[in-house]
Amino acid sequence: MSNTATERARMPEGDSSVLDSRSLANSYATLIPVLREGMRVLDVGCGTGAISAGIAAAVGTAGTVIGIDSSTHLIAKGQQDHAAVPQLTLLTADLFTYDPEEKFDLIVAARVLQWLNNPAEALRHLKSLLRPGGILSILDYNHTQLEWTPAPPAAMQHFYDAFLRWRADAGMDNDMADHLPDIFSQLELHHIETLSADEVYTRSHPAFAEKVGIWSKVAELRGPQMVAAGVVTEAERLAAITAYDAWINTAAEKMVMKLKEVRATV
Ligand SMILES: C[S@@+](CC[C@H](N)C(=O)[O-])C[C@H]1O[C@@H](n2cnc3c(N)ncnc32)[C@H](O)[C@@H]1O
Repeated sequence: MSNTATERARMPEGDSSVLDSRSLANSYATLIPVLREGMRVLDVGCGTGAISAGIAAAVGTAGTVIGIDSSTHLIAKGQQDHAAVPQLTLLTADLFTYDPEEKFDLIVAARVLQWLNNPAEALRHLKSLLRPGGILSILDYNHTQLEWTPAPPAAMQHFYDAFLRWRADAGMDNDMADHLPDIFSQLELHHIETLSADEVYTRSHPAFAEKVGIWSKVAELRGPQMVAAGVVTEAERLAAITAYDAWINTAAEKMVMKLKEVRATV
């Protein structure tokens, strides 16, 4: 991975609330029918392990879940949060070099490949960590298809457009989900399935403000890197947060984040 993509993929330290608020049920529900007691599972780019903990509950104490992430601070928090789950181990590791002796029945990666400039290389390596007949499941975004109802304030639209440009400049794929099936085919994976996994938030959702507010968090946490890269000014970043937070409290009705799970066997 180029230095630019690696630097931009790094999760900023401080607030991990967006990752902590996720769960298997609310943020990777399409995976649930695949999980069986006793499975050995690798969760790649697991963050603080919020989703890994749900996977661990599903595979039970006869199973094993290993979560890896390159962000040491997220793993450290996850190790504290989930210390009581014996079948879950969280490790700081880079997905490109992680190479344990024992293979996995299932490898999952949620919202991770979107941060790489070489997702095919990542998938090739992950495929090599599966046992024969093992399952690979990738959940990822189509960022260009994000829907806001009504349109968000111009200041946030401007910030979001800059976010997509900043990512594309580093070689990241803003339509990662739609490109996964072709990569899976090139890697000669079998039984490739694509499942819609959109996240739909309407005002009646109990966590509406928090979920729709993800873009204020991005402007808050990732925004400084974008300012340093010169794609937005500090004033534009701050204006986006102020206008967007006001919009969430007043006009916002709905946000749909477009995601797909693409799943296959080796
Ligand atoms: C958007 S977060 C997703 C976290 C979690 N899977 C979820 O769905 O909430 C992406 C994660 O991928 C991790 N990551 C990025 N590049 C990585 C790499 N090369 N190896 C391991 N983890 C990586 C980041 O540190 C970050 O925690």
